[in-house]
Amino acid sequence: MSFETIDATVQVLWRYDYDSNIKPLRDLYEVAKKEQWNAATDIPWEIKTDPAAVGDMSAPNAEPFDFVKALSKENQIELAKRKSAHLLSTFLHGEQGAMMICGQLVEVVPDMDAKLYASTQVIDEARHVEVFHRYIQRLDRVYPIMHGLKALLNAVLQADLWQMKCVGMQVIAESIAMGGFKTMAKLTHDEVFRRVVELTAQDEAPAAVEETASLEATLSEAATADPTEQSGPPSTAATANSSNDCADISCARPSLTTPSGPSPTVASVSTSRPPGAAAPPMPT
Ligand SMILES: [Fe+2]
Repeated sequence: MSFETIDATVQVLWRYDYDSNIKPLRDLYEVAKKEQWNAATDIPWEIKTDPAAVGDMSAPNAEPFDFVKALSKENQIELAKRKSAHLLSTFLHGEQGAMMICGQLVEVVPDMDAKLYASTQVIDEARHVEVFHRYIQRLDRVYPIMHGLKALLNAVLQADLWQMKCVGMQVIAESIAMGGFKTMAKLTHDEVFRRVVELTAQDEAPAAVEETASLEATLSEAATADPTEQSGPPSTAATANSSNDCADISCARPSLTTPSGPSPTVASVSTSRPPGAAAPPMPT
């Protein structure tokens, strides 16, 4: 079993007013519910993959090096398979990171519409993990995560502000994933892989819109808010009390996206282990 752990503190934000306040996000949530697909049944897994048709996904348009040309045809196909599996392993690890970041977003984003939509993105990313893992096994094996990607994903997972997590997701979804998916869908000769990247890309595009909409909504309200208010999610903890169901957690003052008033509509709680606390038992 291969795994590693990092400490990632998030400030969990409860929202107590459930009305929709960001219509584009509520619309996206409705679309996301309708467009759920099943990784087990919506990919034509029954079609066998011809290794020669897969090609080298890591450099589909590049002229092969001379030493590659000198290899037998069989070895060229084997090399291409392994290089493709290496590239797709990077996407696989990225999808796992995206799944975990989206799980955090459900906890930390201040608006209910954003929480609802982020919850659909968790299952989207779970499907992506499922399909990439399943497809890679047709080619070769899962290769280790690259250090740079791991550093990026860990930075987003450990970011303090939900806005940073949104930007990080956008960078991952748009810059890394979307461009690659479009290119691979166009160039692959394997029908199974084409469906894998087409369906994955179908989920990724609205996700980028969601993060943008969340940020725009917050920035827009911040621009018209009292300049003495802090931006972002609640960060100033107040003493917990039982009158607003905040026992055992720190109830923060409302964020800029929350109407202020005597009855708190948001509350936050930190979910990290205390410094020095023992890590949970590791699977073996
Ligand atoms: Fe994804």
